[in-house]
Amino acid sequence: MTISVTPISDAFVARIEGLDLRLDRSPAALGVVEEALDRYAVVVLPAQNLSDDEQIEISKCFGDLSYALNHGRAVGQNARLRPELYDISNLDEKHGILGEADRRRQWREADKLWHTDRSFIDADTTYSFLSGRIVPPTGGNTDFADMRRAYDDLPEAMKTRIADLQAVHSIWHSRALAGGVDFRPDEIATMPPVVQPLVRVHPRTGRRSMVLASHASEIVGIGPEEGRALLAELTAFALQPRYLHSHVWTQRDLVIWDNRCTMHRGTPFDDKTYRRDMRRTTVQGPSRYARAAA
Ligand code: OGA
Ligand code: MN
Repeated sequence: MTISVTPISDAFVARIEGLDLRLDRSPAALGVVEEALDRYAVVVLPAQNLSDDEQIEISKCFGDLSYALNHGRAVGQNARLRPELYDISNLDEKHGILGEADRRRQWREADKLWHTDRSFIDADTTYSFLSGRIVPPTGGNTDFADMRRAYDDLPEAMKTRIADLQAVHSIWHSRALAGGVDFRPDEIATMPPVVQPLVRVHPRTGRRSMVLASHASEIVGIGPEEGRALLAELTAFALQPRYLHSHVWTQRDLVIWDNRCTMHRGTPFDDKTYRRDMRRTTVQGPSRYARAAA
């Protein structure tokens, strides 16, 4: 069957059909995916009936796996999934819906703020792979923003102003924005703040984009209030409807996005009634496929 790549939003989301990544991870197939990610930024592969092992193996073709450090579990609570998988669900380790007071519920709230995965880690985080294992009947979309087009459309004076600026990113900032939890010192110590450039040049495409996220708290070298105001202004610009797309999940969709040029967020659903079991893998560094091809 031939592989088809069909844009489903104005400019930055495409659907890839005719490819089952469990069966075909040939350089040609991986090349189609990676080139679509370069051209668009988000790709949707329907009907990928993945096991955890398969999701991990597929992800590893595109870079080095990063590991999930913490899911807001209380001391003594076990992870539901193995550490290669980020648990983007409303479920506990017995696969039941999280209790109302469960700390993990609060932790997940921050995913509903616009963000870029792992911008709070000093690593070259590239792609995220989100697998829809159980999707609720309504709600629970994932929204995306195209940070390349948003950058391209900035007034020239703003491009000049932000060209060399850097922002401080911390996971604790987004967690606090989302309503806060009593973070333990041992949790905080695992992820200190990092500094990221505000404008990034994509190493594969040469395109510039803005690096924003709810993890970003201030801008280096300017006052905290001025920094926050500038971040808010840029974020409002990037979140204009023309740069956005909302993905409505179908069970077994695999959605892959490039964190270097997008932001995303989850949207609400009736999370006390329905299960939403999403599993994410995330990679960093150059892809093995690109390395093999080079
Ligand atoms: C993620 C994420 C939002 C969602 O998987 O990184 O932010 O739709 N997901 O649950
Ligand atoms: Mn995310």
